[in-house]
Amino acid sequence: MTRGRYRGLLLLLSCVLHSSAQSCPSVCLCISDTVSCSSSSLVKLPRSLPSFSVNLDLSHNYVTWLGPSSFNTLPRLESLWMAHNQLGSLGYGVFNNVSRLRYLDLSSNKLQVLEQHYFQGLWRLEELRLFNNKIAQVEPGTLSGLSSLKKVYFSFNQITHFPFFSIQDHSHPFLSMLDLSSNRLTRLPWEDVKAMPGLVQRGLYLHNNSLICDCSMYSLFWHWNLRGYDSIKDFADEHICNIHGDPRASIRFLRNNRFFLNCSVETTVMQPAAVFHTKVIVAEGDRVRLDCQTSLSGTDLSFTWFFPGRGFINQTSVNDTLISMFSNGTVEIHAATVNDSGLYLCTAVDIKQAVNATREVNVTVLLPAAESFNTGYTTLLGCIVTLVLILTYLFLSSCHCSRCKQPAGYNNTTLSSVFSSSKRGQSRMETLKHVTFLEPMLGEKGAEWENES
Ligand SMILES: *[C@@H]1O[C@H](CO)[C@@H](O)[C@H](O)[C@H]1NC(C)=O
Ligand SMILES: *[C@@H]1O[C@H](CO)[C@@H](O)[C@H](O)[C@H]1NC(C)=O
Ligand SMILES: *[C@@H]1O[C@H](CO)[C@@H](O)[C@H](O)[C@H]1NC(C)=O
Ligand SMILES: *[C@@H]1O[C@H](CO)[C@@H](O)[C@H](O)[C@H]1NC(C)=O
Ligand SMILES: *[C@@H]1O[C@H](CO)[C@@H](O)[C@H](O)[C@H]1NC(C)=O
Ligand SMILES: *[C@@H]1O[C@H](CO)[C@@H](O)[C@H](O)[C@H]1NC(C)=O
Ligand SMILES: *[C@@H]1O[C@H](CO)[C@@H](O)[C@H](O)[C@H]1NC(C)=O
Ligand SMILES: *[C@@H]1O[C@H](CO)[C@@H](O)[C@H](O)[C@H]1NC(C)=O
Repeated sequence: MTRGRYRGLLLLLSCVLHSSAQSCPSVCLCISDTVSCSSSSLVKLPRSLPSFSVNLDLSHNYVTWLGPSSFNTLPRLESLWMAHNQLGSLGYGVFNNVSRLRYLDLSSNKLQVLEQHYFQGLWRLEELRLFNNKIAQVEPGTLSGLSSLKKVYFSFNQITHFPFFSIQDHSHPFLSMLDLSSNRLTRLPWEDVKAMPGLVQRGLYLHNNSLICDCSMYSLFWHWNLRGYDSIKDFADEHICNIHGDPRASIRFLRNNRFFLNCSVETTVMQPAAVFHTKVIVAEGDRVRLDCQTSLSGTDLSFTWFFPGRGFINQTSVNDTLISMFSNGTVEIHAATVNDSGLYLCTAVDIKQAVNATREVNVTVLLPAAESFNTGYTTLLGCIVTLVLILTYLFLSSCHCSRCKQPAGYNNTTLSSVFSSSKRGQSRMETLKHVTFLEPMLGEKGAEWENES
């Protein structure tokens, strides 16, 4: 009992000491690791923010600028809310020493140009909110180095050009949301867009821009629509383009595609790059169906397939036990063999409109499961043999070493050198890739620290 009371007194004392050492600015509210200074009419950051802040809310104020190392007294900062301020630009090295930051909200500010240095060092940042600013330009390197990014919101700005080429598989492996809707994009570098990782394309929002109607644009959206991406499905009516770039002649191109009837001609004759590509991976022996969906639809279509192994095929010429073809252009290979891998081409021809469109399917037939089992089995066997060899070696060497002069010391140094070299070899990239494994460690450390205080 008395011991418990004594401990309670100590706790109280440490609390008082703690709050005097780390005083909460008078305009803010400090609750455990969260500091809220929102709606406090601040024009600058409060002078002494408590260093234990993990979450800092500065939203709904009048801050116009952030200078170098603005947050370098807050090494534990993970979330920073600064929505609804008056930020027009950021100085160099604003986020020095806050590399733990994972969530940054700068939405509803007055940013105009996103400069290359703005987010430097934030390699753990997962979510970046920049919607409803005045951003007209995003410099090419702005997002580079932000290798943990999952979601970025740029909607409701005035962006006319975006550096799609800077988004690559190796630079942004986790990015699954790139919102560029309600901006002023007119023409996109379609090749760069198509080269972005599939995960990013699936989460790319481009509706309500000022796109100029043309065939390469239509073909990409048509393809995404076919794959059922939510970004297209959920905003089908907001996908608009301007005919000849005239904003008065804007159409909802996913609803009304009559304008693009001419495109299929262009896609085959003038723009071979706009062919519809797909990829199919199957195992040997599987039944494979390849459809021939293109921009053309209707009942007056005739289909021709080019098979890598046997040339041109249509519904009247194909008649065997290996392949069937349906009237909608779909072909079926009853049991795929490794030799069926290759590039398959389908041409759909609309006889009445005298237009045609092409679909390309890259088929890869993988080795049968039995063989992969065999390789697994040989690998296992190899492992066992290696293990036996290692054990034999250890046994022999320990026998040998018992006669040596300093067996234990020798072993220790080799062991420690092995460990230290493996630690040194752990490159920065590896640490980046294993962010998910780092997270629980961070949590534990945070908990420890809280107990101390
Ligand atoms: C902040 O980071 C810089 C390098 O980025 C370093 O030189 C400096 O010592 C750090 N400051 C603090 C307070 O940790
Ligand atoms: C489309 O974008 C404009 C600004 O570019 C905006 O004013 C408008 O509210 C947006 N419309 C929708 C439906 O989001
Ligand atoms: C399609 O092409 C024809 C002939 O080139 C042209 O007259 C027609 O206006 C085009 N249709 C559209 C909707 O652009
Ligand atoms: C397909 O081939 C079989 C025998 O080879 C023949 O009896 C049949 O009439 C053929 N069918 C067509 C549509 O050519
Ligand atoms: C084409 O027809 C076949 C057989 O009727 C059907 O199984 C397949 O789903 C159809 N393909 C498409 C793309 O509609
Ligand atoms: C694949 O083709 C090769 C050479 O053309 C042939 O030797 C082999 O038997 C074929 N395999 C199958 C499963 O048809
Ligand atoms: C596709 O259409 C173009 C122009 O109309 C024509 O030159 C070409 O031969 C057609 N291709 C096929 C396979 O019908
Ligand atoms: C088809 O896919 C395979 C592997 O998936 C790839 O190596 C090959 O280059 C592709 N072929 C074409 C023509 O795209």
